[in-house]
Amino acid sequence: MVVKIGILGCGTVGSGLLELLKNYPEIQVQKVAVRDLPKAHNLGLLDTALFTKNPEEVVTNPDIEVVVELMGGIELTKKLLITALNNKKHVITANKDLVATAGEELFAVAKANGKTIFYEAAVAGGIPIITNLKQSLKGNVIKRLFGIINGTTNFILDQMKRKGASFSDALAQAQELGYAESDPTNDVDGHDAAYKIAILASIISGKKIDMTKIYREGIRNISQADIKSAEKRGYAIKLLAIALNEGDELDIRVHPVFVPKEKTLANVNAENNAVMIDGSAVGELTFIGRGAGSLATASSVLGDLLMLMNQGANISSQFMVAPHTEEAKLKSINDVKNPFYIRVSMHDKVGVLKDLGLITERNNANVRFIDQYEIKGDSALADFMIDPISEKSMKQMLKEIQELPSIKAVESIIRVLDV
Ligand SMILES: NC(=O)c1ccc[n+]([C@@H]2O[C@H](COP(=O)([O-])OP(=O)(O)OC[C@H]3O[C@@H](n4cnc5c(N)ncnc54)[C@H](OP(=O)(O)O)[C@@H]3O)[C@@H](O)[C@H]2O)c1
Repeated sequence: MVVKIGILGCGTVGSGLLELLKNYPEIQVQKVAVRDLPKAHNLGLLDTALFTKNPEEVVTNPDIEVVVELMGGIELTKKLLITALNNKKHVITANKDLVATAGEELFAVAKANGKTIFYEAAVAGGIPIITNLKQSLKGNVIKRLFGIINGTTNFILDQMKRKGASFSDALAQAQELGYAESDPTNDVDGHDAAYKIAILASIISGKKIDMTKIYREGIRNISQADIKSAEKRGYAIKLLAIALNEGDELDIRVHPVFVPKEKTLANVNAENNAVMIDGSAVGELTFIGRGAGSLATASSVLGDLLMLMNQGANISSQFMVAPHTEEAKLKSINDVKNPFYIRVSMHDKVGVLKDLGLITERNNANVRFIDQYEIKGDSALADFMIDPISEKSMKQMLKEIQELPSIKAVESIIRVLDV
């Protein structure tokens, strides 16, 4: 079977796909849209006549059966893909921003046209997590899913741990190596991970997820002192994207976490990604690998394309599409329970630790450990870890700690993984 495709975008992922397609003569590229024609021509990957600056030529071309969207962005891209679907083309995309924010609308258009949208590359790049969740693991209720799904932040945290770098130095290095963009907000503040966990949570729940309700905290405030404290206590700090399926409610959030060193997730280094799932039948499974990059991401795009070709005429818009008619009820962050790691700077006076102990007791927080160190003059640091309490109780406890005259500042408060 021969399939004729059009591609929107020929950057990192698009050029990787063209590279891989050299081995697939049955997949014929009809048109590729870019902004900068000379740049695309210089890649030497395709006949220059096949490039166009006009993306409409791709999405309306009557010969094209599948549109592969690798240009990114939301508004224009959404418009183009709706045109493609209305012109009876299947769509493959790597665009998590688009799927997370406009997925519902796009899937409705796909359904109305009897076409489908595949988006394996949109989450965790080269890791085949979406197809596995939708096919091989379909016989499971996925109770818990933990992801390291932003390679940039994982790289930064890893550099801070291995090289003793500050957050800003590690970020600068990530930018130098091309792992982080000049405006790193999307990555370091957890937006990118939130888009991806919204997609995964919607697959495991079969429900619609309101992105704006996902609790999100990035890694800007993680200091070298936090990294060292975690190390000393047997943990690694990771930016985790979490989706817990609690029956009526979904607990979805993105924030830094102390992960016990013996856990696989604590050992996912550099810019790698990982997704750990806990299925009702299969138990725990962890996928680790390249969450981004030219060929790794193109591998997922090509996988979608080959799957689409295998389904041939039998493909239906329902295939791999969850009902998504119901809106998921998201658990309020105030009700979420976690163990916490807390570090304070204080005046080194008799009874301070006792005062801290009394506050934790009053708030029903069982102390796992408490330690005083770096005593210099009348100043010292203390850190402690408590068993799970709700965020609401933690905030009350924090207020009481801040009001203690002997406490100078709460330096850090980080949730701890408790599985
Ligand atoms: N990079 C990764 O590792 C990775 C991993 C997973 C998912 N993704 C997703 O894959 C998508 C593509 O990422 P990328 O890293 O390959 O991006 P990229 O390197 O910036 O490439 C984007 C491509 O789209 C073209 N383009 C952008 N706007 C256009 C427009 N209005 N009209 C025509 N062409 C346009 C660009 O053309 P010019 O170069 O001529 O401007 C370029 O060829 C994004 O949605 C991204 O989130 C990327």
